[in-house]
Amino acid sequence: MVRVDRGGAARAGGLGALIFILAAPGAFAASVRVVEGESMRVVSGSVVRAQEAVGGRAARLPANGVATARFTSDNVGSVVVRARALGCRGRRRLTIVVDGGTPYRVKPRGSWREQRVALTLAAGAHRIRVSFSGSERRRCRVLVDRVRLPAPKGKPVATPAPVAPAAPASPLGRYVPLGAAVQLKYIKQDAGFDDAFKREFVSMTPENEMKMEWLQPERGRWNFTAADALVAHARAYGKDVRGHALIFGTATPPWVKRILLSHDAAAAMRTHIHTVMRRYRDSVREWDVVNEALGSGGTYRSNAWTEKLGSQYVEMAFRYAREADPTAKLVYNEFDADTAGPKRDATAGLVRKLKDKGLVDAVGLQMHRSLADAPTREQLEETMRIYEQMGVEVQVTEMDVLAGGAGSLTDRLIIQAEAYRRAAQACAAVAACTRFTVWGVTDRYSWMGVDQLPLLLDAGGAEKPALAAVREVLGG
Ligand code: XIL
Repeated sequence: MVRVDRGGAARAGGLGALIFILAAPGAFAASVRVVEGESMRVVSGSVVRAQEAVGGRAARLPANGVATARFTSDNVGSVVVRARALGCRGRRRLTIVVDGGTPYRVKPRGSWREQRVALTLAAGAHRIRVSFSGSERRRCRVLVDRVRLPAPKGKPVATPAPVAPAAPASPLGRYVPLGAAVQLKYIKQDAGFDDAFKREFVSMTPENEMKMEWLQPERGRWNFTAADALVAHARAYGKDVRGHALIFGTATPPWVKRILLSHDAAAAMRTHIHTVMRRYRDSVREWDVVNEALGSGGTYRSNAWTEKLGSQYVEMAFRYAREADPTAKLVYNEFDADTAGPKRDATAGLVRKLKDKGLVDAVGLQMHRSLADAPTREQLEETMRIYEQMGVEVQVTEMDVLAGGAGSLTDRLIIQAEAYRRAAQACAAVAACTRFTVWGVTDRYSWMGVDQLPLLLDAGGAEKPALAAVREVLGG
């Protein structure tokens, strides 16, 4: 029983209108229309009154209830569903499918929450389906009062193909998913931190838990406990996970150095990559395969892998990764490679070599920076276009901007926001830039120390000027 709203799609700024149609099995049919910022408009009686719902009404879905909506969009990067579970204990899930694609799952809570799932949609008409599965308790149901499609502020631009010919520099915004590095221990010990992560970010990079020294501290002794928990947590809230980092010289466990023969080192590398990628193949679709292979002059850094395999270890890792999961996005991730110089040249050379062999899909620019050395938008854009022209995607993967020190705090935070804004603008202007990740959620737990104030949220989880700046450009 699905009835299509006859109201047609109203346009609201850069945002397409959303028509929301309820179809609980055999029970009722009604349609309501939601436009961002407005409450749901009830057209007929299949929606219940609910205190604290936007507009005082909500769609009520029993177990196996389904709601669908049609909308048109210019450039949408996420869907936000506001929902609340009632009478449920244990298992409960809202599953959101757009255009019949990958299902995203969020867990409705006992209080009203907005939950975001990330997606990238081309301009045009789309269909969203929200279904509810709850525990066996008959009273278990979910209320949904709003489905929203946040759009970037400013004039939207069409969603580009992943890799397009160079476009002129543009000050306009474009939705790019915003991610953060997260450590499991902070999720566990600090509910406010977890809330901030879930509220503000659509993807997650395990900060340490997927490094080889964590996953395989001794040869053949695997420890997936922390990585499993972190990935499950992220996926339960609809977040994408970036795998970080399969092969990383400084995070290599000591046993690799003790391997005597090069063919054995290669076998150990292959086993590690295959085991890890296959374990997470359903939930991690993007991997930093090799991290920080190059030093500041652009030469290879020596590590346990170069000792046995030479610089070829990089290409070997990518080959094993392609074998292990041929449809995963494979990323080469590097620091200090975002501005001109020998390090950038060497990084681009390495990525080109890998690309010619069909082994790499994207390059990650870490961007650990400070107020003094954060690049201009033009500098970063120039770097990103090198990769765009090569036909590989580019991402900001670990940005932080140290802002500790003397001088007015307000001024420092504003200068920091401008550094982040410039990076976001470069990313928005280059079609090949597909994700923007910062290295931590709040200043409190930054690897650089809380005094450096390097991130988008302050120690208490409140928004800083930097977050507003990034959102203005990238939306979400
Ligand atoms: C850092 C983590 O943030 C720290 O908690 C850990 O002690 C060391 O590693 N480049 C990378 C990341 O690719 O893996 C590093 O993460 C930061 C620099």
